[in-house]
Amino acid sequence: VDGIDYSRLRIHPLGLTDLDQLMAIEVYSFPTPWKRSMYEHDLLSNNFSRFYCVKRWPENELTAYIGSWFIYNEAHIGTIATKREHRGLRLAEQLIAYTAFQALNERMEYIVLEVRASNQSAIRLYTRLWFEQVGLRRGYYTDTGEDALLMTCTKLAELTELLQIPEGSPA
Ligand SMILES: CC(C)(COP(=O)(O)OP(=O)(O)OC[C@H]1O[C@@H](n2cnc3c(N)ncnc32)[C@H](O)[C@@H]1OP(=O)(O)O)[C@@H](O)C(=O)NCCC(=O)NCCS
Repeated sequence: VDGIDYSRLRIHPLGLTDLDQLMAIEVYSFPTPWKRSMYEHDLLSNNFSRFYCVKRWPENELTAYIGSWFIYNEAHIGTIATKREHRGLRLAEQLIAYTAFQALNERMEYIVLEVRASNQSAIRLYTRLWFEQVGLRRGYYTDTGEDALLMTCTKLAELTELLQIPEGSPA
């Protein structure tokens, strides 16, 4: 992959100290960004939350993040974004693969997400990762009135095999 040294990337659980960097990406990436307090709530007091990020070592630069809820048999991705200058490097793919790895460990059976009908790069990404559209939620996004595609993926083992970025800090 060009543009970034993959060997210096690591996947970590998202922490409160990552939220300054995260919020800058969040505000840039979404028409209606989550508030910082929503991330704080998920990190501090939601046992269903599984939030992860990719960081560049040793700078500690946050390059991408994902947030899901694991409930019963379902891993529901609620947020995913990559820093603008690092898009197209498969970091979102790697975080979905890592989430699938965790989801398998915790006996989840599928991953589900909503995506704006206009978000072509995201839809292409999910389609490449074996997600299929299973529904349409009309007017789901109240900011623009846009529809959401509801997409699911059951190929958790296949997703796990895509994983290339290791977890934790380099020794
Ligand atoms: C959607 C998003 C998370 C993808 O992150 P990413 O790390 O660039 O993802 P990947 O590199 O794995 O794949 C991105 C897709 O965008 C395309 N892409 C390539 N270069 C790109 C670039 N410089 N900028 C944007 N998209 C690019 C790729 O072609 C790829 O499509 P493909 O899977 O058909 O090859 C990222 O574009 C983003 O943060 N968008 C804003 C937030 C958002 O829309 N989140 C999804 C909500 S459901």
